[in-house]
Amino acid sequence: TARDLQEILSFTVALAYRAGELIIEGSEVIIQAPPDSESGVLEKKNAVDLVTEYDVRVEELVKKELGSKYPTFGFVGEESYSAGSRPPLTDAPTFCVDPIDGTTNFVHGLPYCCISLGLIYKRRPVLGVVFNPFTGQLFTGAKGQGSFVQQGKNSQPRRLPFAQRPRGLASLSQANIAVEWGSDRSAETMLLKTRSMTRLAGDISAGGKMAHAIKSLGSAALNFCNVAQGGLDIYWEIGCWPWDVCAGIVISQEAGCVITGSHDTFAISSSSPEFGDVTEEILTGRKYIVVRAIGDTNHE
Ligand code: IPD
Repeated sequence: TARDLQEILSFTVALAYRAGELIIEGSEVIIQAPPDSESGVLEKKNAVDLVTEYDVRVEELVKKELGSKYPTFGFVGEESYSAGSRPPLTDAPTFCVDPIDGTTNFVHGLPYCCISLGLIYKRRPVLGVVFNPFTGQLFTGAKGQGSFVQQGKNSQPRRLPFAQRPRGLASLSQANIAVEWGSDRSAETMLLKTRSMTRLAGDISAGGKMAHAIKSLGSAALNFCNVAQGGLDIYWEIGCWPWDVCAGIVISQEAGCVITGSHDTFAISSSSPEFGDVTEEILTGRKYIVVRAIGDTNHE
């Protein structure tokens, strides 16, 4: 019910703030580590897919706290999944967590990363909390109850979208667009990405849309939130995972954004078939797009 969601939201927001303290602690450790030390940064599937000791520690904290407060709920997390914990998705309420979304930024000391806490119910995302501990910016959303941004613990949450934003754009040429390189650097994916980027950013005489800007900021969850709050007009990516997008989906949808794509070769469906139902319904698309109201999105 709406009241249940509000109760879960208060709990997960408090937990996100606690996790944020650990993320800040981790960032200090990594920044102060001697340059030639390993500093707890490990590679996962390849040299651009990183994990740190703090991704694991934050996920452990969150999993433990959620498990004792909501023992009947399921849990899907980026690091548990990597470690082999891949429970099949059911209709039961299931938390979907990325302990540090934007790990590469975290490792490099770029303050564009966050914890992303989502809740799936009956295979649909229904609640999202995204917190960037470096900026103190907190985004929340609950299905049917709107989404909000808050700057600092004691400040007043502001409902999204803001009055004048997100505003509709007449064309892609006015758009501020986020795309991500992601960790799939295969020739096929790189070709799709660079071709699309060229079409979006390139000169009109060469068939491009001359978008205002194309940027790769490095956190899927924050990209969703920034489309929701209007700083970005579009976020487009190939290759997200459920924990990258679950919370952001609720926050952006509640702010009136549209999420679209085609699920045929989407990385989530191909690499984690147990999320198939979710991907079909909510994480649609290998070309995964969240977009504000815009006249012309047909850049293919
Ligand atoms: C990644 C980031 C990145 C996006 C990838 C994600 P992680 O999450 O959000 O911006 O391009 O698709 O997997 O690995 O930092 O949690």
